[in-house]
Amino acid sequence: MKSLTEAAVRQYRDLGYYAPVPILTRAEAGALRRSLEAFEANGGGIQGAVRHKPHLLFTWLNELIRHPRILDAVEDIVGPDILCWGTSFFIKERRNTSYVSWHQDSTYWGLEPPDIVTAWVAFTDSAADNGAMRVIPGSHKLDQVPHRDTFAAENLLSRGQEIMVDVDERQAAMLELAAGEMSLHHVRLIHGSDPNPSDDRRIGFAIRYIPTYVRQVAGSHDSATLVRGVDDHHNFELEQRPDADMSPAAVAYHAAVTGAHAQILMRGTGREMRA
Ligand code: NI
Repeated sequence: MKSLTEAAVRQYRDLGYYAPVPILTRAEAGALRRSLEAFEANGGGIQGAVRHKPHLLFTWLNELIRHPRILDAVEDIVGPDILCWGTSFFIKERRNTSYVSWHQDSTYWGLEPPDIVTAWVAFTDSAADNGAMRVIPGSHKLDQVPHRDTFAAENLLSRGQEIMVDVDERQAAMLELAAGEMSLHHVRLIHGSDPNPSDDRRIGFAIRYIPTYVRQVAGSHDSATLVRGVDDHHNFELEQRPDADMSPAAVAYHAAVTGAHAQILMRGTGREMRA
């Protein structure tokens, strides 16, 4: 074990999640928030394609996906050869009705086998009063469950997808995190979250990690960033780091990569990726 206790790994295997894991100090999390908000203050918005794989646009996010504390915990779950397949911001603005419907992450990702772990890093506190993630313990042991696309405007998921089975919300566990902590969840775990009625925005950054043996089976081409160990499988084109925040080269590369990514995620809908 590099970071997690055996009990923590056992909980992840049995229940499909583990939290909280301390990663950053509150001050470090605040610095990440300020980096994000400096970009926004300059007229940039975390919407559309920029919401996804922003680690290809910003050096400070490319550093974060390689953070040793995050990778030590991820290694305890998926082993030493690790790719970052994706990142996404989950921002809920203050007094906002955006939500995340109950879903399994695996539904449209096209990745096999389902050995994918999400490290969800809190840039702000994420708690009951601002729409923290809720999970159904043990639901990762279900197979893939059918989902329906709703494209609901306030749903933060790419298709507004929601699971087509009744979820017993009394079973749900809330993953409350302080700024700088992360949760870990399995790609098949049923989860969702409510709106943020509080007076501050809630900022989370989801990092999707896979062992190098995972394959993309829904598209002919996909890419990922090697963050630890070696890639002997060559199932993904290895991504380049941004040379500077929002540099022309980084922006062009990110556009190409997220375009290919969106084709996989939105396949069969006839729609573009939305904000
Ligand atoms: Ni999800």
